[in-house]
Amino acid sequence: PIKVNVAQPVSEIQPTMWGIFFEDINLGADGGIYAELVKNRSFEFQKPLMGWKIERKTFHEGEVLIQNRADKNTANPRFVSVKVENAQKGDLGLTNEGFRGMGIKNGLRYDFSVMYRQSGSPVKVHAELLDAKGQVIGEGTLTPSQTDGQWHRQAVSFNAKATEAKGKLRLWFEGNGQIDLDMISLFPEDTWKGRPGGMRADMIQKLADLKPGFIRFPGGCIVEGFDLNNRYQWKKTIGPIEERQLIMNRWNIEFAHRPAPDYFQTFGLGFFEYLQLAEDIGSEALPILNCGMACQFNSAEVVPMDQLEPYVQDALDLIEFANGDINTTWGKVRAQMGHPAPFNLKMMGVGNENWGPQYIERLKVFTKAIKAKYPNFKLINSSGTDPNGDRFDYLNKELRAMNADFIDEHYYRAPEWFLKNAGRYDSYDRNGSKVFAGEYASHTNNGASASNRNTWRAALSEAAFMTGLERNAAVVQMASYAPLFAHVEGWQWNPDLIWVDNLQSFGTPSYYVQQLYSLNKGTHVLSMTQNNQPLIGQDSLYASASWDKASNEIILKIANNNSQAQVREIQLDGVKKLDPNARLIVMQSDPNSVNTFEEALNVSPSEKKIVVNAKTKKVSLELAPYSFYVVRI
Ligand code: AHR
Repeated sequence: PIKVNVAQPVSEIQPTMWGIFFEDINLGADGGIYAELVKNRSFEFQKPLMGWKIERKTFHEGEVLIQNRADKNTANPRFVSVKVENAQKGDLGLTNEGFRGMGIKNGLRYDFSVMYRQSGSPVKVHAELLDAKGQVIGEGTLTPSQTDGQWHRQAVSFNAKATEAKGKLRLWFEGNGQIDLDMISLFPEDTWKGRPGGMRADMIQKLADLKPGFIRFPGGCIVEGFDLNNRYQWKKTIGPIEERQLIMNRWNIEFAHRPAPDYFQTFGLGFFEYLQLAEDIGSEALPILNCGMACQFNSAEVVPMDQLEPYVQDALDLIEFANGDINTTWGKVRAQMGHPAPFNLKMMGVGNENWGPQYIERLKVFTKAIKAKYPNFKLINSSGTDPNGDRFDYLNKELRAMNADFIDEHYYRAPEWFLKNAGRYDSYDRNGSKVFAGEYASHTNNGASASNRNTWRAALSEAAFMTGLERNAAVVQMASYAPLFAHVEGWQWNPDLIWVDNLQSFGTPSYYVQQLYSLNKGTHVLSMTQNNQPLIGQDSLYASASWDKASNEIILKIANNNSQAQVREIQLDGVKKLDPNARLIVMQSDPNSVNTFEEALNVSPSEKKIVVNAKTKKVSLELAPYSFYVVRI
């Protein structure tokens, strides 16, 4: 039989073990969790009117102009000026197409707001929600109340009268005069926690339901940027949203044959909001910062060593922003943003997929400065895995010699790789640097292409591999699938954990595997062996066991990657007393099965009761073909 040694736990499992990786890829943030419905709301995209269409009955030059303040307002240089003469509703307008349309829900309140400036007779703004056919399905009128030539913000709310996945926002201007507009915005009422200007609730709920131990943000390659100018700089993502300077998204490229010319980062969702999100869903925050190197896939740009100081200062300041007293410079900024209490940030990544000796050189400077000021603060260092050789041996040796807290390994590989590597960490040094399996996903086809699918085959291979992560929780203390989100009409990378359109979202089979691990993690690893060996593919079986101190339960995880059913008896050694009533949670399907919007739960867990022999301390399991089981005893 398979034996589980309950008497002597092998090691602890960290509460951070199973987490999430968030990046603004595949319309993850703008057009994704950031619930703003207006694309290019402040006209700062490369083409100022991208996403907008001018509606006019008769053409008059100069009625709609984009003005550029350039150096006078580097964070938000552009705005639109609309000039009208005795205009009625329907004469001159602007339509915004949203991010692949706007998701509008019947009966829901929509908050329309603008920043405006005018000095003559007031120009009214009629806001209309349109369905895909151009019919009005909601409307409100904003009558600007100030005419003092200064910028003001004003809002009007109205309810939608129909549901539409591909809605639009149309503005008509009525009056006689000129109005300048900026930050033209539309948010639904039903944001996460009802926060105005907040996040899309269904998507965030999917994350909360994972009960993740940590949330890594903001990426991914976007940390690095196309070049250093376009790197992610957290300081530019905090404070009033109109002062957050937009950049082109690193995924604004043709990748996986998916061009995304309209992909920008407006930073309505910035570091404050990420820290708040982590707090909301009970996760540790794990920000990753640029280490002075741009994306290795795009440019070989590095900052000279003698100019690295501002990058290091950004890291130090971030810790102060998150944790500092409200009397500190950055702690005060956090307090002004509405969070006087510290976020209690404990860790940070320096560099994402930066691999050469230039990385080590820069990392040493960061590490010295951060550890000098915050000795207990944990740092995540970037590394990789090479399927064809030992490209990362040099790097791993260097990082271990530096006594790195965490080494971040990434692997997007075939299902076979995951199965073959279920024992990958069995031989890792228990006393050295810990591993953060920061990005992984089973790819049924090459690359991040359209031919990849989130099949049960892929998810089952991840489930099998994750038994190895759990068994080695003494070494692997954090792990996250990547990428997290993808919009069906706006993705660059495939497969992904959660798919969305403008109205709905569904979890892939991989999502439910992640969830099963996270919700059933336990606090201690138990030894689970067959003939004194861990189960790493014998008869296509993979298994791990844990014990949960709080509930005093034994938790078994078994993946059967065999096309045949198999029966196994599991002996629970060293347990004094057993409750015969146990829970069995199962995922089982055809390897090619997938989830869809229509059949969102096609491949998902189901639960039943099983009976354990309390006398012999044995449990017998019939393992269906291609199945994954969690047993709680
Ligand atoms: O997850 C997608 C990308 O894969 C990440 O941005 C990057 O870190 C990795 O190459």
